[in-house]
Formats: sequence, structure tokens, C-alpha cells
Amino acid sequence: MVLHRNLGPFDATAIGLGEMPLTIENNLGEAMGIETIHAALDAGCCHIDTAWAYYCSGGEEQTGEKLVRQAMESWDGPKDEVSVATKVGHFRNFGPDGTTPTWGVNGQPEHLIEAGKQSALALGVDTIDLLYFHRPDPSVPYNESIEAIKQLVDAGVARTAGISNTSIEQIDIARGILGDGLVAVQNQFSPIYRSTQDTLDYCEKVGLAFVCWSPLGGFRKAKDETKFDPFRAVATSRGVSYQQVVLAWELSLGRRVFVIPGAHRPATILDSLKAGDLDLTTEELDALGRGLSVE
Ligand SMILES: NC(=O)c1ccc[n+]([C@@H]2O[C@H](COP(=O)([O-])OP(=O)(O)OC[C@H]3O[C@@H](n4cnc5c(N)ncnc54)[C@H](OP(=O)(O)O)[C@@H]3O)[C@@H](O)[C@H]2O)c1
Repeated sequence: MVLHRNLGPFDATAIGLGEMPLTIENNLGEAMGIETIHAALDAGCCHIDTAWAYYCSGGEEQTGEKLVRQAMESWDGPKDEVSVATKVGHFRNFGPDGTTPTWGVNGQPEHLIEAGKQSALALGVDTIDLLYFHRPDPSVPYNESIEAIKQLVDAGVARTAGISNTSIEQIDIARGILGDGLVAVQNQFSPIYRSTQDTLDYCEKVGLAFVCWSPLGGFRKAKDETKFDPFRAVATSRGVSYQQVVLAWELSLGRRVFVIPGAHRPATILDSLKAGDLDLTTEELDALGRGLSVE
């Protein structure tokens, strides 16, 4: 049984599938993308995370949302039990071949409203389960972007709202505008990126889900592998992957914590989903805490 937690009104798996690697650079093609999503769903995962901006050079915008729709349409399991989250407010800039694409932001209210409607269309739904404002746009007052997300919730384009890449101050602005409509905060958090711990703790306190993005440190950038050594030590003694230990540790940090590991292929998400069954002991958690405190 995959671990379940309340994601606002949804009974979702605490371990969701991060769709991004399936549709940005280095993806293994559409068939593998659908196979990976189906493998996750068949294993009981009922939480998928995508975004308007998950597309790659030469491809159409919203490739990720369309892939999720295709996968859902061709899956014969209980679709109504699956929560799909998406995000608006980012787009991608592609330079000449060989250069790394950059992420642009557009938090203008009219753009967010249009993008939210496009997301619903691409996902093939009347109402998006959870719609995040992807990232604050420094050129637009935060409250104006959040008001646009509220309009989408009020109009029934989204059932619930989330915010991403956000500070405690911004969480409070969003809570003031969205009220109970705000159910989740999605911030980067992993053993190599813990500066958002304050927002994780704040979400626990005020009753919001905290969703860790790139919970394994991300798939694109070189990372400081030594940060994972304490997790490898526990993994060896348990006979599981160190990624399972990382995800189980993150889930242990609060009752409202979710993780959305990315995957390019079925094997990795199937392994990650097992992290919900891994109850780390107090001794193991203490050892991980001590290991992480060594800089
Ligand atoms: N809100 C935001 O601004 C934001 C930003 C970035 C990402 N995100 C979300 O966060 C999700 C996850 O982030 P991410 O994909 O960047 O990185 P990640 O989840 O930290 O890492 C994904 C990588 O870990 C590998 N992996 C996953 N589970 C594994 C396992 N059990 N054993 C071995 N390897 C495993 C995958 O391998 P394979 O490639 O071999 O499958 C993949 O390369 C994204 O998909 C996206 O939905 C959100």
C-alpha cells in the first residue's frame, strides 16, 4: 500500500510522480513517457505533478500536460482517484543548439488566466485538481499574480491552488487572498537543498501541504554526492536504494510533506514509491541528522 496523505481535499499518495523529466531535455520519447506514468498509476500512485512549461526545444508548449492527458486516457484504472497538479507562470527560452535553455517567468494576471485555461484544455479536464503559481515574477506584485489564480479557482478552472518557489511572507500573502483555496506549497527541498526548511516547518504549522521538488537533488545538475553518503549507509543496512531512504527521510519531516521524484523510466518511480513503506527508526533519523550537519 503506497503511503497516502491529504493534499487539500484529495486523498493523494505522499509520493507523487514528477513528470518533468518525461518531457524536457533527455526524455526517452512519448511511448516511454506513457509507460512510466502507467507504471506509477498501476502501482497505486495517484498524484502526478506537471506544468504548462514542461516542453523541450523543437516541441510544442504544454507537452507535459498533453502527455499526462494521453496517459490518463489510455489507462484503464480508477481515473477519478488520481490528482493531477499543474503550474502556470513559467515558460522556456531556447537559444542556439547546444546551449542550455533558461526558464522565463510571466506572472502577469492576464497571462496566468489564459495559461490556466490552456492547462485545463491540455489536460482534458473541466477543472484542474491543483493549480500552482509556478514562480514569483519580480516585475509583478505577488498579490496581483495570486489574485489571478483566485479568479481561476472562483471560475472553476481549478479546484484548489498552490504556490511554488515561495517564501513565508509570500505564503502569508497567498493565504490572505486564497483562504482555504490554498492547499499546497511546492518548494525545492532535498539533502543538498535545505534552505527552504523554514517554509516546510511553516506549512506544517498552518496546515498546508509541503511538496518537495527535486527531492533527490534533481536530474540535470551535477550534485554534491557526498551529501548522500549518510543515506547510502542506512540504505546498505536496510538493503534498499539510497533514494528510498532520502524520500522516507523527507516524508518523516512533517505529516503534510509530499515528495514528487522525477523519473525517465518505470524502474525508478517504482522503486521510489516503496519509500512510503520504509519506516526509519529514531536511531536512523538521528544518524541522518548528524550526517547532514557535517559540512
Ligand atoms: N516547482 C518547480 O519550480 C519545480 C522545479 C523542478 C522540478 N519540479 C518538479 O519536481 C519533480 C522532481 O524533480 P526532478 O525530476 O528535477 O529531480 P529528482 O526527483 O530530484 O531526481 C530525478 C532523478 O532521480 C532519479 N531517480 C528517481 N527515483 C529514483 C530511484 N528510486 N532510484 C534511482 N534513481 C532515481 C531519476 O532517474 P531516471 O532518470 O533514471 O529515471 C531522475 O534522474 C519534477 O519532475 C517536477 O515535477 C518542480
